[in-house]
Amino acid sequence: MEIVLVKSFTDKPWRSSSTYNLIERSLKEKWRVHSLTPKDPLSLFNYIRRLQWDHRKKLFVFNIAEYIDEKNKIGFLPQLLDELAIPHFGSSAESIETGLNKAATKELLIKNRIPTPRYFVVKDQKADIKADIKRIGFPLIVKPVSEGGHIGIKEDSIVYDDVGLNKIIIRVLEKNNQPALVEEFITGSGMREFSVGIIDGKTRLFTPIEINYKAMDVKEEILSFEAAQKDLERTILVTEEKIRNKVIDLAEKTFDIVGAKDYSRVDIRMNENDCYVLEINIMPGLGPNSFLPQAAKDIYGFEYPQFIQKMVENSIDRQ
Ligand SMILES: Nc1ncnc2c1ncn2[C@@H]1O[C@H](COP(=O)(O)OP(=O)(O)O)[C@@H](O)[C@H]1O
Ligand SMILES: [Mg+2]
Repeated sequence: MEIVLVKSFTDKPWRSSSTYNLIERSLKEKWRVHSLTPKDPLSLFNYIRRLQWDHRKKLFVFNIAEYIDEKNKIGFLPQLLDELAIPHFGSSAESIETGLNKAATKELLIKNRIPTPRYFVVKDQKADIKADIKRIGFPLIVKPVSEGGHIGIKEDSIVYDDVGLNKIIIRVLEKNNQPALVEEFITGSGMREFSVGIIDGKTRLFTPIEINYKAMDVKEEILSFEAAQKDLERTILVTEEKIRNKVIDLAEKTFDIVGAKDYSRVDIRMNENDCYVLEINIMPGLGPNSFLPQAAKDIYGFEYPQFIQKMVENSIDRQ
């Protein structure tokens, strides 16, 4: 087995060149690794076909990026790899497309009776949303329908009236260049937030953590882009049996409903009534300080190379 490590143009903090270097070193401890940063789909195809020809050996592709060119969203890697019919790390293009779209994910969750905050999607500034606002009520939170890493989420994304709501909807439509997802804001005295990583395999491993807002110097208790940039995010392990089981159960159901494979992380927010799934991070960050590898170390004692190797071995076994 030889591993092809596909690197995207790196412009995301959790997918930086230093993370790719770390991954490359981890893979090289166990396998022969061929790395490439394709400039377009054709160069990826040619590279892999040549390797298949030269080695006449089984290849496995390690990819953790959505696009070859993330800035312009060109070259949807999971689909290119599906088309090559080559075993690759992570979910299928179809599942990834669902996971990347928060509204599509929520639709599936609702169909499967998994609690998720009530919501509506605004595609156009002129849309009539009066009835939707009345149905859910303020406060609301407005997010880009299809981003990750808290892109487009600021403290003023929580809105308390029509004026604030319209302002942020317009910002998402114009600046993020995509529909706005408007959601019931989960808050109140019993509010807690969790994120549950899943390492798939014959036995699934879960890494539930809680966001420790008490230890974070933020005005609003949300994971905003600013909080991530300033490295303000703090987490603690979830030790209470009942909550732990509850969030693991929700995360696992979400993982299966979306059809995710190998790894993912599910964000969950709780209030005094219930726990609600916010989203699945179907390709969660694998930077050394990202939630999933950090928690895998804290809970299972996995050092970074071991963590990457375990996920690859599981994925190869599965395929
Ligand atoms: N409906 C909601 N109610 C309360 N807080 C929310 C809600 N949606 C998002 N948030 C806050 O915003 C953060 C980022 O939202 P999320 O949907 O997870 O998007 P991202 O892809 O940016 O992580 C969450 O971790 C949470 O703190
Ligand atoms: Mg999130």
